Amino acid sequence: MDIRTNAITTIAGMRGSGKTTLAHRILKGVKGQVIVYDPMHEYPEDISYWPMSDSQADFNNFLETCWDRGNLYVCIDEAERYFKGKKSLTEFAAKIVNTGRHRNIGLLVITRRIAELNKTVFGLSETVIFFQMFLPNDIKYINEFFPDAELLQKMKKYKHKVFTMR
Ligand SMILES: Nc1ncnc2c1ncn2[C@@H]1O[C@H](COP(=O)(O)OP(=O)(O)OP(=O)(O)O)[C@@H](O)[C@H]1O
Ligand SMILES: [Mg+2]
Repeated sequence: MDIRTNAITTIAGMRGSGKTTLAHRILKGVKGQVIVYDPMHEYPEDISYWPMSDSQADFNNFLETCWDRGNLYVCIDEAERYFKGKKSLTEFAAKIVNTGRHRNIGLLVITRRIAELNKTVFGLSETVIFFQMFLPNDIKYINEFFPDAELLQKMKKYKHKVFTMR
């Protein structure tokens, strides 16, 4: 899989479909610096940042540090909690999502609920990886961008489809 670490990649799929397992594999293959925003403590400790709280302010502070540092591949699991669909992005989320490339910062964004993920994040994703999903809301949402999204309901467990927009 050709994933650029200065671009945004989004992984979406239902609970237990294999997203985090694939993310581990992708992160292992990255040559540069990796950091995971890891509230669930699911990733290796040496590449993880464990937030003290679930607040947007903490998330924004974390991204500010990433922004200042640059040259970083940042993984956000359960991303719909931080890049919220109906809210505007926090200051440094917006900076990284829109212009992270200029500081050589890429994002690996993982979500169970693609319809609840911020639209800008999804819209600016260079690569989108879909695992099995069933919720009509999510299928309908994806159908706006990719026809035949219903096929995702028929996909085998742990299988995924990769779309690259470039
Ligand atoms: N390709 C695979 N083959 C076999 N088992 C797998 C595969 N991918 C993941 N699994 C197993 O399925 C379970 C769920 O995987 P994983 O945690 O990656 O899913 P997830 O999509 O991140 O789930 P969640 O939405 O709950 O975060 C794990 O026990 C994992 O070991
Ligand atoms: Mg997971």
